[in-house]
Amino acid sequence: MTTLELTTMQEEIRGLARGRDAVILAHNYQVPEIQDVADFVGDSLGLSRQAAETDAEAIVFCGVHFMAETAKILSPEKTVLIPDLEAGCSLAASIDADQLRAWKAEHPGAVVVSYVNTTAEVKAESDYCCTSGNARAVIEAIPAEREILFLPDMYLGLWLERVTGRKLTIWLGECHVHAGIRPDDITRWEREAPDADLLVHPECGCASQAMAFASDRTQILSTEKMIDFTKRSPKKRFLVATETGIIHRLQKEAPGKTFEPVREDAVCRFMKTITLEKLRDSLRDWKHEVDVDPALAAKARQALERMVSIG
Ligand code: 13P
Ligand code: SF4
Repeated sequence: MTTLELTTMQEEIRGLARGRDAVILAHNYQVPEIQDVADFVGDSLGLSRQAAETDAEAIVFCGVHFMAETAKILSPEKTVLIPDLEAGCSLAASIDADQLRAWKAEHPGAVVVSYVNTTAEVKAESDYCCTSGNARAVIEAIPAEREILFLPDMYLGLWLERVTGRKLTIWLGECHVHAGIRPDDITRWEREAPDADLLVHPECGCASQAMAFASDRTQILSTEKMIDFTKRSPKKRFLVATETGIIHRLQKEAPGKTFEPVREDAVCRFMKTITLEKLRDSLRDWKHEVDVDPALAAKARQALERMVSIG
């Protein structure tokens, strides 16, 4: 697409959104041209808060399906659209509600904390939801004597055990993109970029996290906290261990600094299914509407409301 075609389509999208009173929300992993046309770009927590608070009639969610579903649960009276129904999540697919019910039956009385990367059915079986942005605060809000079942991301769970000092019972799920970032990617960069700070998402494998802990040049952060950190840091160069879509946002928010992914192929194909054309078609043809059964949504909302209010 030429620059002129790109700008023309972005203007068409803004016009359609205005005409239909729709707000465009985009996750930090979206392609640059989607981020640039969105009303709000952020992490899972920030976008959930935006979805809960917006005055717009409709929300077009440029992210993956569980995020759009979360928006619908938090704002049931609004129309929620996703430009491509194929935008799934391998982590959310790693546990279903039957598996969770069976796990709960093995641990009577335990508190269930679900990462937001889960289906509505799993959220409905949960006591709390959290994102990487507030997982630590959510765990710390639960009385120390209660057993906690944490799901579905094992690496986030292991990191939470380290930072909170709590023993968690952890589901063995993973995100294929973050699990694909290997310890070698981190050590190689530490050797090659001694002047840079390393930013690691807590969904990354425990080995790379352990290494990150060993150095004062490393930070374990959610995507939005990476942006806050680099804006405030006096450092000029950063290595980034998460999905590469974040680099565009980092470059925009912290101009004059250098950001390099530790792996160029840390790309989430689900996030990248959303294109400008699909976003335009979504607004023009009012598709694909995301619905959640009201009874199920009511059960899931309590865990989500706890998530948006903590941290
Ligand atoms: P955050 O948006 O919480 O940083 O999570 C990353 C992620 O993998 C979302 O799918
Ligand atoms: Fe899911 Fe991983 Fe993609 Fe995030 S990056 S949407 S956790 S598959």
